[in-house]
Amino acid sequence: MKNGKRPQTRIVHAGSDPQKQRGAVNTPVYRASTVIFPTVAAMRSGVENRLDTVFYGRHGTPSSFALEEAVADLEGGYRSVTAPSGLAAVTLSLMSFLKSGDHLLMVDNAYDPSRQVCERFLKDYGVETTFYDPLIGAGISQLMQANTKVVFLESPGSLTFEVQDIPAIAEAAHKGGAKVILDNTWSAGQFLKPFALGVDVSVQAATKYIAGHADVMLGLVTTATEEDWRTIKTHAGFLGLCAGSDDCYLALRGLRTLDVRMERHHETGLTLARWFQERPEVKRVLHPALPDDPGHAIWQRDFTGASGLFGVILNEYAQENVEAMLDGLDYFAMGFSWGGFESLMIQTNPAPARSTVKWDEPGISLRIHAGQEDPEDLIDDLERGFERLNSGERS
Ligand SMILES: Cc1ncc(COP(=O)(O)O)c(C=O)c1O
Repeated sequence: MKNGKRPQTRIVHAGSDPQKQRGAVNTPVYRASTVIFPTVAAMRSGVENRLDTVFYGRHGTPSSFALEEAVADLEGGYRSVTAPSGLAAVTLSLMSFLKSGDHLLMVDNAYDPSRQVCERFLKDYGVETTFYDPLIGAGISQLMQANTKVVFLESPGSLTFEVQDIPAIAEAAHKGGAKVILDNTWSAGQFLKPFALGVDVSVQAATKYIAGHADVMLGLVTTATEEDWRTIKTHAGFLGLCAGSDDCYLALRGLRTLDVRMERHHETGLTLARWFQERPEVKRVLHPALPDDPGHAIWQRDFTGASGLFGVILNEYAQENVEAMLDGLDYFAMGFSWGGFESLMIQTNPAPARSTVKWDEPGISLRIHAGQEDPEDLIDDLERGFERLNSGERS
C-alpha cells in the first residue's frame, strides 16, 4: 500500500487497495444485502467477526469500509463508522454514550437540528441536557455533574462561528469522566485534527466537504480508540444505520480532492471576508481566520486553515431591500446544505436557537459559503447585490 507520510499523499491513497479490486483505482460500488459464504466455518467466522468483516449488507460493504478507513486516516483516528446523514452521525454518537439518567453538556451554538435532538428526542429517553457557552473553555468543569457522560462541541459553531478551546474543555471533561464528541464538519477533518486535541469522537456531515459536490447525504463518526469504535459500531447496528454504497463511493471520490478544494474554499472565503470588512454596509464579519476575530488566536493555534463558511452582519436594512439583494444574485444560491462547489448566501437568525448565551447582535445576519468560482466574479455579484440592498430595486 503506497501510503505516504504526508497528508496530501495519504488522502489520495487512504482506504484504497487497487489490487484487491482487479486493478481498478477506485473501490467500486458494492451493492450488497446478502453476503454468501463458501463454507459453514466461513459463515461462523463472519458471524463472530461481524463488526469487522463483510458479513451482511447493513453492517458494511467494501465501499463503506474503504471510506471509513480513509476518513479515519484523514482525522488521525482509529476507525470510522458511516451513517446515512450528518445528523444521523450526531445522534448515533450521542446515543452510543448516553442512557436514561445521564447528563449531557451541549454547546449553545450547535447546529440547530443537533440541538433539537437533545431538547426533543434525548429528553424523552431520560437524558438531561445543559447548553453551555461556546467560549466557556476550562470553566466547563463547573458545569460537570456526577452523571455527565458526554460533552459535545462544535467549533466554529453554527451561524455565529465562535471558536472553542477544545483542549481545555477536553481536559476538564475527561477529569469528570465524560466523553468528548466534536462536530468537525466545518474543518472537514482537513484543517483540524481532533484526536491530537483530546477529542474522543469526531463527527462529520460528509454531506458537506468530504462528498463536496452537493449530491450526497452521509455522516461519519470517527473514534480515537478501538473500544469507542466498537461501542459506536454496535449502536449503529442496533439502530440499523447503514449508508448506501453509491453514496460511500461518491464520498470517497470527493475525499481524493479534499485537499485542493479546501485550499480554494479557504482562499476565496478569506478574500470575500476581507471584501465584506471594507464595505460600509457591513457591521461585522464572523470569520475566525480574520486577525480581529475574537476566535482568531485559538483558531490559529488549533486549525491549519479555514473552510468557506462564515457569517456577515449587515447594518439594519428593510427586509424588502435584503430580499432584493438575495433574490437577484447570480452566483450565490440560496440553500441550506453547504460544502459543495457552489457559493451560497442565506439570511439567518441565530437568536432563537440559543438558550444560555443570548445572541442579541442587531443587524441582518447572513451566512456565506464561498464556493469554487472565481472570486472576482463572486465580488462583482456581491457589488451588484449591495446596489440592490441600498436602493431596494430589483434587477
Ligand atoms: C455543523 C453541521 N453538523 C451536522 C449537519 C447535518 O448534516 P446532514 O445534513 O448530512 O444531516 C450539518 C448540516 O448542515 C451541519 O451544518
